[in-house]
Amino acid sequence: MTIRALESRDVQAILAIQAACPEIAQWAAWDYDRVARGEMAGWVAEEEAELAGFLVARRLSSELEILNFAVESEWRRCGIGAKLLEEALRWAQTFQATQAILEVRASNLSALRFYASHKFEVVGRRPRYYTAPVEDALLLTATL
Ligand SMILES: CC(C)(COP(=O)(O)OP(=O)(O)OC[C@H]1O[C@@H](n2cnc3c(N)ncnc32)[C@H](O)[C@@H]1OP(=O)(O)O)[C@@H](O)C(=O)NCCC(=O)NCCS
Repeated sequence: MTIRALESRDVQAILAIQAACPEIAQWAAWDYDRVARGEMAGWVAEEEAELAGFLVARRLSSELEILNFAVESEWRRCGIGAKLLEEALRWAQTFQATQAILEVRASNLSALRFYASHKFEVVGRRPRYYTAPVEDALLLTATL
């Protein structure tokens, strides 16, 4: 598996993964183009020349915020999510981030398990934060 920076040629494959993941934010192609231009940080995982996952993050002062993150369903539970998260955390070290933060749908138990296994803790709840369907967000943080 290869982890590398997200590029504009990845956008269509990312949109295909995203479309199959109703639990994540449904971004438009131009959002990912902004990532490819360096306005946000992003990485992709390639497996057998196919795009298997992606993670987009940004720096918020001394925090790393994970904005969107998914692994293609056939490639889940193979460690790809962990590798993408590791890459984001490595980037966070370059600006001495003290904390990683993210929001996740309250019903997204597989993501909650994933983050718990990477030392994230639930620190808050944003009622009715998500639409389609309406749902609370849980706010998770990890001390870096
Ligand atoms: C969350 C996600 C990115 C994790 O990617 P992944 O490549 O499967 O993660 P890894 O293989 O590195 O880690 C797997 C670990 O996560 C947890 N996990 C992931 N899916 C799980 C599930 N369905 N049930 C229970 N635990 C699960 C477990 O701790 C698992 O370890 P195990 O397989 O040894 O039990 C992936 O499940 C995904 O794309 N989900 C849909 C999109 C999403 O929810 N994104 C996050 C929104 S913030």
